[in-house]
Amino acid sequence: MNPKRSAVYPGTFDPITNGHVDLVRRAAGIFDRVVIGIAANPGKAPLFPMEKRVELARVVLEEVPNVNVLGYSGLTVDFAREQGCGIVIRGLRAVTDFEFEFQLANMSRHLAPEVDYVFLTPKENFTFISSTLVREIAQLGGDVSRFVPPVVALALAARRNG
Ligand SMILES: Nc1ncnc2c1ncn2[C@@H]1O[C@H](COP(=O)(O)OP(=O)(O)OP(=O)(O)O)[C@@H](O)[C@H]1O
Ligand SMILES: [Mg+2]
Repeated sequence: MNPKRSAVYPGTFDPITNGHVDLVRRAAGIFDRVVIGIAANPGKAPLFPMEKRVELARVVLEEVPNVNVLGYSGLTVDFAREQGCGIVIRGLRAVTDFEFEFQLANMSRHLAPEVDYVFLTPKENFTFISSTLVREIAQLGGDVSRFVPPVVALALAARRNG
């Protein structure tokens, strides 16, 4: 398969939000195959273990036929190569995302010149959603049901109640 028709969408997805889902659906409409790569990312001290983040994303994206969800550790470009993907998808919510994403894409190009980055923007009512804010609100007992799929809201509530 042409590697430019297959894309990896990497992130921590701790947990997956409606913003991520919006981006995945857009990507799935553009590329033949989209692999959601859930980074172990121990440095970020995630709230959910990688297996749980993968499970939640799988449940949420079950009905999108050309999407797979996999966990990975190591470099994103290595994961993209292993998966035969020549494209990496990233999301831009606002200018605040730009600087970091621009740096990341350029560094990645030095490591793997054959991999291209494609940036997508979500529907505007998802631009303010981040996993960090969702985790914080949920941990403090706030209602996150408008920002995440129902199964994720349940997992956050279960996590809070211990
Ligand atoms: N609401 C959103 N709309 C569009 N893109 C998003 C959204 N949330 C995250 N992304 C993008 O998805 C990719 C993976 O993001 P990541 O897993 O770090 O999510 P995050 O919400 O930024 O989480 P955290 O707050 O923990 O950093 C990044 O490119 C990020 O810009
Ligand atoms: Mg982030």
